[in-house]
Amino acid sequence: MRTQVGIIGAGPAGLLLAHLLHRAGVDAVVIEARDRAYVEGRIRAGLLEQGSVDTLTEAGLAARLHREGLAHDGMDLRFEGEHHRIDLAGLTGKRVTIYGQQEVVRDLIAQRLEDGLPLVFEAADVAVHDIGGSPRITWAGGALDCDFIAGCDGFHGICRGAIPADALTLHDRIYPFAWLGILAQAPPASHELIYARHADGFALATMRSETLSRMYIQCAPDEDLAQWSDARIWDALHTRLARAGLPSQVHEGPIIQKGVTAMRSFVAEPMRYGKLFLAGDAAHIVPPTGAKGMNLAIADVRVLARALDDACHGRGEALLDGYSATCLERIWQVQRFSWWMTQMLHRTDHGDGFEHRIQTAELRYVVGSEAARTTLAENYVGLPYAA
Ligand code: APR
Ligand code: PHB
Repeated sequence: MRTQVGIIGAGPAGLLLAHLLHRAGVDAVVIEARDRAYVEGRIRAGLLEQGSVDTLTEAGLAARLHREGLAHDGMDLRFEGEHHRIDLAGLTGKRVTIYGQQEVVRDLIAQRLEDGLPLVFEAADVAVHDIGGSPRITWAGGALDCDFIAGCDGFHGICRGAIPADALTLHDRIYPFAWLGILAQAPPASHELIYARHADGFALATMRSETLSRMYIQCAPDEDLAQWSDARIWDALHTRLARAGLPSQVHEGPIIQKGVTAMRSFVAEPMRYGKLFLAGDAAHIVPPTGAKGMNLAIADVRVLARALDDACHGRGEALLDGYSATCLERIWQVQRFSWWMTQMLHRTDHGDGFEHRIQTAELRYVVGSEAARTTLAENYVGLPYAA
């Protein structure tokens, strides 16, 4: 029998789409290039908007998320030695939840296997064929005929590249800085996230649990990790997260993971060609400031699942035809916010201090105006979904 949807990629986008389709009675097969341990171990951001938590909860996927996730009602902005709490819940009535992307992925894989549904790991040489007509997916040792293909294979996947170049418009900004991220066995600096703009560069203190800290510092895109001893990293964190006249809140501990994350803003539009639909990082990348990547992927597949449900159950293709435009509305809002947070908080100085003073003025305006704080907060907790 012909499978209705072939899903390429077992990241949050592909796995959640598969689950939402299953609940809607649509058959899907998920085809993933890497092995299960690799996919489950990949460390990414870990902040869920209220709407993402609601989506996972409604889909019956959030038992562990509600047990282990850390709900946050506020966050801290630091600059010039000042510290200002942004009362997210007070300003918006919503909160965010800290729960690692790989935990979301683990929960989704466990659910798929428990449901006994098809999920192929270690599929080599995945390729898509006849995406404008009768789509087919092939890989070493396997093939799948389907009605639709969901390209959920991330930024480096093959689906976007299968679309003729003249049918896509690409928007791309690469930032002249990156994040050096660490995972450390140490209690978080604060019970809420701290975003700091410092003359030495950006820093962020976040967490994975009460005993595991996740921290980032701005660095060069080609930063050599060998130049960053643990002591140098801790020094930078103490300095950049400091509050004038108060002791450092940064707790040191064994660093168990170190890595550099590149920063770019990228959108490919439209997110459809024939029977192929792109979702998540395959179609767009945001810089990590604000942690929108996984949330955008979840927002895309909510729309795609409903549209495929209609199309596969004979209710027409109006939603599928609107898929790209519906998603791009939100994507550009989120691109704007991620870009804005990024340029407000990173050192971009050209040597004369102009950008630094503009940033200070902007930060002072944000913390000083309830309207500006609300603008930040409502984007940070997540804009409402389109009806
Ligand atoms: N064939 C099959 N699978 C592939 C291929 C391929 N040719 N290329 C990549 N993949 C897999 C990757 O191994 C990965 O598991 O596709 C999956 C894509 O997952 P993600 O990169 O996590 O992308 P997505 O599901 O869209 O989630 C977006 O990921 O990068 C973060 O910040 C981003 O949080 C956001 C989230
Ligand atoms: C994270 O917890 O990894 C995280 C949180 C907030 C961000 C980015 C990353 O803005």
